[in-house]
Amino acid sequence: MAGCLDGKVVVVTGAGRGIGRGMAMLAAKEGASVVVNDLGASVDGEGAASQQPADDVVEEIRKAGGKAVANFESVAEPKSAEKIVQCAMDNFKRIDGVINNAGILRDRIFHRMSVPSTSAAPLLIISRSRSRARSCTSRRRRA
Ligand SMILES: NC(=O)c1ccc[n+]([C@@H]2O[C@H](COP(=O)([O-])OP(=O)(O)OC[C@H]3O[C@@H](n4cnc5c(N)ncnc54)[C@H](O)[C@@H]3O)[C@@H](O)[C@H]2O)c1
Repeated sequence: MAGCLDGKVVVVTGAGRGIGRGMAMLAAKEGASVVVNDLGASVDGEGAASQQPADDVVEEIRKAGGKAVANFESVAEPKSAEKIVQCAMDNFKRIDGVINNAGILRDRIFHRMSVPSTSAAPLLIISRSRSRARSCTSRRRRA
């Protein structure tokens, strides 16, 4: 495997399924070592978490000759952001990029949305990006 991300380490959040999975596979194909973060939630963020989606993507990347490690933290928690970045440091000794993909979809008709549903999706998107950007930036500043 040789590509434009050779030697780089990339975190992809929500990489167990959908768009994130595609980006993780592509990053690995281009030579990056990938932290496949996914809490394994349902599409609306409800239900029991599962490690299966992240584990499956890691297995797929490794079978294709790439490097990847699974991480099951929720991006919604500020403390998790530090743990996700630490996972990259522990396994690959550096971090070069974060793809803030993880998110949930609660596109119910407006008058049927509960207050938590209305606030959860935008909050998750804002907090996930800010938390990991802060963790990643402070880590790179210390390096
Ligand atoms: N698919 C679309 O048409 C579309 C359009 C616009 C925006 N988006 C956004 O793009 C992103 C990916 O969409 P998708 O269709 O691939 O979604 P998807 O549901 O197929 O995959 C999202 C993944 O994120 C994971 N996830 C959810 N909450 C998480 C959390 N707190 N921490 C870690 N992982 C978490 C889920 O377990 C899931 O595997 C989402 O943010 C979505 O809102 C998608």
